[in-house]
Amino acid sequence: MGASLLAIAIAQTPPISNRTPPPQSPYNRAFFPKGTPLVADKRYSCIGLYNPKSPENVGSVMRAAGCYGVASVFYTGKRYERAADFVTDTKRVHYDIPLIGIDDLKKILPLNCVPVAVELVEGARPLPEYTHPDRALYIFGPEDGSLDKEIRDWCEDVVYIPTTGCMNLAATVNVVLYDRMAKGLNTRSGPKFR
Ligand SMILES: C[S@@+](CC[C@H](N)C(=O)[O-])C[C@H]1O[C@@H](n2cnc3c(N)ncnc32)[C@H](O)[C@@H]1O
Repeated sequence: MGASLLAIAIAQTPPISNRTPPPQSPYNRAFFPKGTPLVADKRYSCIGLYNPKSPENVGSVMRAAGCYGVASVFYTGKRYERAADFVTDTKRVHYDIPLIGIDDLKKILPLNCVPVAVELVEGARPLPEYTHPDRALYIFGPEDGSLDKEIRDWCEDVVYIPTTGCMNLAATVNVVLYDRMAKGLNTRSGPKFR
């Protein structure tokens, strides 16, 4: 009796290929393809702006952040306020990428993220020869100043671009992000990071 019920159940079960797929939902984790790695292996970059001078500076940095897929932008200081006009962010990137004001860049360092000071200063490492961290927080000084020693000492690396004289802030951000992009998968862990 038991065996015949089983035979009926088997006969009535449609083959896997005929089954109606469960409804698609962005919240249904079962829809990640089998074999999707659950380990943390994603590379990203963030930007930290030390006391930026003007909304124009920040707008241009946001534009660069959008072009190169930066995860988020942090800034300190009171000179620039979140409500400021983003005249130079014509792509309105500030709606897509979080722009967060904080009192101290040291407080927002994400786990496993390497702080990198970008400054034209003696002892810094030249950007063309630099291997970027898998996850980096690049910190830049203001248009009318530089990163002080305290923040440079806190950063794991200090890099510079070998220019004759310094660039403006947004130009520097673009160069650093372009260098990271151009080096492709050659961050510290190599291709095993996505
Ligand atoms: C316009 S610069 C600051 C002004 C500069 N300290 C001066 O002496 O006039 C703004 C920021 O851009 C970055 N920067 C500009 N040129 C750079 C370079 N060649 N290498 C590294 N960082 C640079 C630094 O983060 C700097 O604090």
